[in-house]
Amino acid sequence: MSMLDRYNRKINYLRISVTDRCNLRCTYCMPADGVSLLSHNEVLSFEEIIVVVKEAVRLGIDKIRITGGEPLVRKGISSLVKMIAEVQGVRDLAMTTNGILLEKFAEDLADAGLQRVNVSLDTMSPQRFYEITRGGNISDVLKGIEAAKKAGLSPVKINCVVNNTPDEEDARAVAEYCHKNGLDIRYIHMMDLNAGKFSVVEGGDGGNCKTCNRLRLTANGKIMPCLFSDKEIDVRSLGAENAIKKAIEQKPECGSVNNDHHFYNIGG
Ligand code: 5AD
Ligand code: SF4
Repeated sequence: MSMLDRYNRKINYLRISVTDRCNLRCTYCMPADGVSLLSHNEVLSFEEIIVVVKEAVRLGIDKIRITGGEPLVRKGISSLVKMIAEVQGVRDLAMTTNGILLEKFAEDLADAGLQRVNVSLDTMSPQRFYEITRGGNISDVLKGIEAAKKAGLSPVKINCVVNNTPDEEDARAVAEYCHKNGLDIRYIHMMDLNAGKFSVVEGGDGGNCKTCNRLRLTANGKIMPCLFSDKEIDVRSLGAENAIKKAIEQKPECGSVNNDHHFYNIGG
């Protein structure tokens, strides 16, 4: 089965945010403190996520990305990956991570059936990394990237957030590192959900409304038809099938603003 939305876009891609928690505090993503986090019982269990995945696949989803927050801080993440990988019809299974815990998890994730990872890296300077992430250690990420390559989670792609252009100093250094290490780079322009400021991902396929094929599932079980819209449909109250169908029906032609959400609770 395959699902077309009102604008004839084939919806085959689901991004699943498995937690709104993160072990970093990137300035463009989270406030320094005072983030209100979901409580344990609000967060979908693995079993609930799998119900959504199975229904989504039945309706035409064949590509899945696990996001956060930071997905590797979710307890038991490798077993969730395995449960998703075992659903018949999941053709592409990837994860977006900040890489801090990747050295620890890469091999388990690959064994569980994860195919590849995107790792966020905006600078090569330890000091700048520390500032941007409010306290992160860049060497953890670099070790994580190496571990991902070694585990075969490839192609490893690097997500590099730029202020204005890939030509700025930080991004150029990241590009050089990627070139030397056989990594793909994608440049993500800094966005502002609340102000409706968004743009296409250079080197990737996000941000282009005409060809947008995605839905998002938030950690607390809402299907979001568009990153730049407040629309959300609750899986727990409607059931997975109805929620997915409704989200596809309500997918806007193009996004505008999102006042209610942040990157850390939608997963970018
Ligand atoms: N603008 C653009 N991308 C963002 N991300 C988080 N916040 C923003 C923002 N304000 C993206 C980063 C990171 C991913 C997890 O989320 O690209 O790699
Ligand atoms: Fe965490 Fe990613 Fe947000 Fe940074 S961008 S605070 S790593 S979720």
